[in-house]
Amino acid sequence: GGFAVVVVAAGSGTRLGQGIPKALVRVGDRTILEHCLTGITTSGVTADDGDWDEGPVVVTVPAGDTGLTDVARSQGAVAVTGGADRADSVRNALEHLRALGCRPRGVLVHDAARCLAPTEVFARVARALVDGQEAVIPVLPVVDTIRAVDGTGACQGVVDRSGLRAVQTPQGFDWDLLLAVNDAAADHPEVSVTDDASLVEKFSDRTVHTVAGDDAALKITRPLDLVLAEALLARTLN
Ligand code: CTP
Ligand code: MG
Repeated sequence: GGFAVVVVAAGSGTRLGQGIPKALVRVGDRTILEHCLTGITTSGVTADDGDWDEGPVVVTVPAGDTGLTDVARSQGAVAVTGGADRADSVRNALEHLRALGCRPRGVLVHDAARCLAPTEVFARVARALVDGQEAVIPVLPVVDTIRAVDGTGACQGVVDRSGLRAVQTPQGFDWDLLLAVNDAAADHPEVSVTDDASLVEKFSDRTVHTVAGDDAALKITRPLDLVLAEALLARTLN
């Protein structure tokens, strides 16, 4: 316990194509955000927070949102308006936590869209932080053959996938480190990243450590992912 968690849910879900914010889309009879927040509570990573008044879970929501804000509050989390891209959303959430003066043992940043991430993944990330790692990401082997191509679509050769990993969330960080690299990134708007560990690599000399991810931590991105998530959920409930 003792970790703060940032859940990023301020995206629009364009690729899923449902016309509503993705975190409000239902998997089974509950929204993606409800599944996500329940999973975090079940994992126990936020237990024993104690140090600050609000809950240790901050959810980023789209500007003008009410639905996700209600879901967040009903599960004891705090809603903060997100930004133009994912990195901006994370920064808004961190600023909120910083303004509260909290000093968590560490902070986990999680995609709401990975709403079925198993407890074991949270546990592996949290364990690595407790064991002294400062930046931890869950990863999976790459299963497809990966090829580089040029602008015309002509192949430039196969990339050796044995040294590659697909990256998931929750990603875990030392609190001061994540604040520092986000502060550094704020001065470099030209640097664009798709995850938080990238900021550690670009703006600090710390090593990002990997732990095993899980197929069930898939990011619901396209319609097929929703079919998979529904099937995973049905398997878990039966
Ligand atoms: N996210 C966010 N703020 C943004 C953009 C994304 O908090 N400005 C969150 C999303 O809500 C999601 C996670 O980051 O939980 C990963 O992003 P992605 O899967 O790309 O979700 P969307 O941006 O909503 O989907 P799309 O790109 O298809 O519109
Ligand atoms: Mg997106």
